[in-house]
Amino acid sequence: MALRKIRQLGDEVLTKKCREVKEMTPRIRELIEDMKETMYEANGVGLAAPQVGVLRRVVVVDVGEGPIVLVNPRILETRGELTEDEGCLSLPGKAGLVTRPAYVKVEAWNQDMERVELEGEELLARAFCHEIDHLDGHMYVEKVEGELHDVVYEEEEQ
Ligand code: NI
Repeated sequence: MALRKIRQLGDEVLTKKCREVKEMTPRIRELIEDMKETMYEANGVGLAAPQVGVLRRVVVVDVGEGPIVLVNPRILETRGELTEDEGCLSLPGKAGLVTRPAYVKVEAWNQDMERVELEGEELLARAFCHEIDHLDGHMYVEKVEGELHDVVYEEEEQ
């Protein structure tokens, strides 16, 4: 396992649409392990492959309940709305208000390429949406209501 460099807002790789993963390979497994390590090291709650410069549809999330790996994730269902502060490891020290669904159901494949359905509420729903946006080249700053502001607690970043 190795830490990978987190790309920052302004890097073109963060604006690209990622390709689907067709089969699990040693290289993708290594990417997943490296992404988890990189996310934990940076105190994030989620990380998407393009943030480490890899244009594949792979996401890792941990909102404090253990790591979740999502390969080729897709939102199946959403309910409600919640407007809260959101941040991103590709824009450290900043946050802004973003409205996201309060509940989402996601379809994805795990690291063994088994299809899974995952449900998330509040922070987990937000993390799923935020990270899936990265796979289509979108950053939360495009959705911020009002101004970005400085954050005091790094732990709140995604
Ligand atoms: Ni992000």
